[in-house]
Amino acid sequence: MKRLRLGMVGGGEGSFIGGVHRIAARLDDQFELVAGAFSSSPEVAKRSGEALFIAADRCYASWQEMAEREASRPDGIEVVSIVTPNHLHVPIAKVFLQHGIHVICDKPLGVTLAEAQELAQVIDASGLQFILTHNYSALPMVREARARIANSEIGDIRAIEVEYLQDWLNDRLELTDNKQASWRGNPAMAGAGAIGDIGTHAWQLAAFVSGMEPETLRGELLTRIPGRVLDDEVYAEMRYANGARGRLWASQVAPGFENDLRLRIVGSRATISFRQQQPEILEIHPHHGNSYVVTRNGVNNHDSVRHQCRTPAGHPEGYLEGFAQIYREAAVKIRGGDAPLLPGIAAGLAGMKFIETMRESSDRGGEWVEW
Ligand SMILES: NC(=O)c1ccc[n+]([C@@H]2O[C@H](COP(=O)([O-])OP(=O)(O)OC[C@H]3O[C@@H](n4cnc5c(N)ncnc54)[C@H](O)[C@@H]3O)[C@@H](O)[C@H]2O)c1
Repeated sequence: MKRLRLGMVGGGEGSFIGGVHRIAARLDDQFELVAGAFSSSPEVAKRSGEALFIAADRCYASWQEMAEREASRPDGIEVVSIVTPNHLHVPIAKVFLQHGIHVICDKPLGVTLAEAQELAQVIDASGLQFILTHNYSALPMVREARARIANSEIGDIRAIEVEYLQDWLNDRLELTDNKQASWRGNPAMAGAGAIGDIGTHAWQLAAFVSGMEPETLRGELLTRIPGRVLDDEVYAEMRYANGARGRLWASQVAPGFENDLRLRIVGSRATISFRQQQPEILEIHPHHGNSYVVTRNGVNNHDSVRHQCRTPAGHPEGYLEGFAQIYREAAVKIRGGDAPLLPGIAAGLAGMKFIETMRESSDRGGEWVEW
């Protein structure tokens, strides 16, 4: 077996998440980056490719050219990572799938539910793998929480509370030359504000760990910073079929919060609590019992969780390793194996449906809307 030949669209000079994907792809040595269309500017694309030691004839000026040329080479890429602004995810994914190339794509899936549904059909017809990098759901202690809940350790779920709070958009960075903020402030490129950028992560995390989707939900999309076009804060409430209630709060204008993604799930026997800024531990609070923490790679981890750990207990793993786990499992799936916890098109469709359902509720003054 050889390393999978990987291409990348986006991720050029000055960009953020492309570099994280490259580290993640290298961490377990299953991929080799051999081609890219790294930027919308041909010069920047070329310069970025050179800095990554990509052969000159495989640094492309456009992703369309890359898909065609790579598909026609015997040593062409087998999988492409899409790390561009949101509006390009679906068009790029479709073209690469139509050229027989597997896709790893960053979230949110796109800018509308309708285009996401079209993509789902292309994926179906292609028989290829499509992986969406909801990286937090690959963290060991998140997987541990999921395994314990699936094993009925906390009893019947009564409440699901998820928050993703940041403060970096508390200034109008979209009016500056900040590369990440400028497209995020543009509705045509981002599609949605905080709800798409971090709300979809929170939504996916809650559904992944609890194993539940609500029957109805309602909420509000807020724009706190005057003059901003898109939402920068979102509040949602959920009602589940078993009587459980949920709340989701995502904000990019919450001073003092960096990447504070937290999840608490309250059951009839215990509460489980996770915070991504402390990814080494999972808190368990049993009724009539002492609260305790489960430590990553500790003796009482679920077997599957211990197997995914890369370093011994106490040598911290976090964001990058979670991302790498997505790549490790993507390699398994692309090679025909099984990776049931990997987020894919279903998670992407749910994220887009969450955005559109919440918009509908918000436009109707916070009314309950069917999921
Ligand atoms: N999973 C996560 O934790 C996470 C974190 C940050 C961003 N993201 C997602 O990753 C994506 C990129 O975000 P970012 O913060 O890295 O943005 P960024 O602005 O830093 O990078 C975007 C890159 O795409 C390139 N690009 C734009 N148009 C292109 C085109 N036509 N052809 C080729 N390249 C093109 C830009 O030149 C740039 O290199 C977004 O969808 C975002 O939601 C995910």
